[in-house]
Amino acid sequence: MSGLLNGKKGVIFGALDPNSIAWKVAEKVHEQGGSFVLTNAPIAMRMGALNELAEKTSSVIIPADATSEDDLDALFTKSMDELGGGLDFVLHSIGMSVNVRKGKPYTELNYDWLTKGWDVSAASFHKVLQTAWKHDALNEWGSVLALSYVAAQRSFPDYSDMADNKAYLESIARSFGYHYGKRKNVRINTISQSPTRTTAGSGVKGFDGFIDYAERMSPLGNATADDCADYCVSLFSDLTRKVTMQNLFHDGGFSSMGISDAVMDMIEDASS
Ligand SMILES: NC(=O)c1ccc[n+]([C@@H]2O[C@H](COP(=O)([O-])OP(=O)(O)OC[C@H]3O[C@@H](n4cnc5c(N)ncnc54)[C@H](O)[C@@H]3O)[C@@H](O)[C@H]2O)c1
Repeated sequence: MSGLLNGKKGVIFGALDPNSIAWKVAEKVHEQGGSFVLTNAPIAMRMGALNELAEKTSSVIIPADATSEDDLDALFTKSMDELGGGLDFVLHSIGMSVNVRKGKPYTELNYDWLTKGWDVSAASFHKVLQTAWKHDALNEWGSVLALSYVAAQRSFPDYSDMADNKAYLESIARSFGYHYGKRKNVRINTISQSPTRTTAGSGVKGFDGFIDYAERMSPLGNATADDCADYCVSLFSDLTRKVTMQNLFHDGGFSSMGISDAVMDMIEDASS
């Protein structure tokens, strides 16, 4: 199918480099006829890669720290000016834990770092939604997505405080989903994505083992960033108008598995 997003306008947070999930989403949204503003934290701009994506997708870049209400106010105002009116979609593809980055175990968290990570990874989603609400920035039947991980439901020790941030993020989608649904038929969902080789993903200790385990456990194999981008396109399109307040697993079946033959074989090989 092509042209699924013809005429739709939006804001895409979190494209850092060509591995980023948001980068792939931007490419696919562009392919499907959508137009958008690209945004990232001012500090991420210094890496310069975003200009390449902006050129390729004919988009404008507006820097914003997603934890700053002032930056978000300016971002939504300028985005509507730039795109000529209200928005139909927003992607929140933002995550960071200082505790994970610095290898702090969950039983020894630094609470200043916890607060920073919680603000960037979860509260920023509320700030984005509240700013959009205040500016009446989203059109009827708009669609908002954020990216999550199954550590919100199951225990993954090395994911540390990011697990709690993701649980909070998913809850915001449900809580705000009610209000925005009633007000403007806007839908708000999270996608719980397979482990994916990106800058944020690779920051988790033992990531290679992690991704290999998930691959062996999932009957369909891990979902790639490209697969995730396709899923985002479907959720931004008019084909999914009644899906809201959900955490949608996009993980090749991983979240429903107990054990797989491939993982059993690995364990038996290791113990023989
Ligand atoms: N990679 C994985 O294994 C995986 C799995 C499930 C979910 N996710 C989630 O997907 C999302 C995207 O991550 P990714 O894997 O593409 O990695 P990524 O590192 O490419 O993207 C993370 C983005 O967050 C941005 N960011 C950090 N602080 C910010 C701030 N204050 N304001 C605005 N932006 C800020 C970064 O600049 C970066 O662009 C995250 O929410 C992540 O937790 C990733």
